[in-house]
Amino acid sequence: MEHKIDFIQSEALPVLDNLLRKEANEGSYDFAYVDADKLNYWNYHERLMKLVKVGGIIVYDNTLWGGSVAADPATVGHRGGAVTQSTIQFNKSIAADPRVDISLAPLGDGITVCRRIY
Ligand SMILES: C[S@@+](CC[C@H](N)C(=O)[O-])C[C@H]1O[C@@H](n2cnc3c(N)ncnc32)[C@H](O)[C@@H]1O
Repeated sequence: MEHKIDFIQSEALPVLDNLLRKEANEGSYDFAYVDADKLNYWNYHERLMKLVKVGGIIVYDNTLWGGSVAADPATVGHRGGAVTQSTIQFNKSIAADPRVDISLAPLGDGITVCRRIY
């Protein structure tokens, strides 16, 4: 399968931006899995909305962030900081995004399955 795999080890945003420079890449991907730095999830989403085809799937990991997104801020300890706030905002934004259908599965640390609908 080696000829089908293009392994890139890098900061994710410049790689996605680079892919978007080539018009043929737009709407060409069937699937993306996002599990990098949580503060950039929305930035990844905006780029993946262009790269993944209509009907394609994006999976975002850790969208419950240890349950902290739904917990009393006084009880969440080290998971109550910037990543929690960012994940809460991401969850609200993706739930309101008309370009996608989503389901947040309470599996592990929370997995949001997202299908691009247009
Ligand atoms: C939770 S781990 C991912 C584990 C991976 N999904 C697996 O199952 O092996 C998060 C990974 O994101 C990488 N990462 C963090 N920030 C990143 C960024 N800005 N761009 C690309 N990768 C990043 C980290 O180096 C780390 O390997």
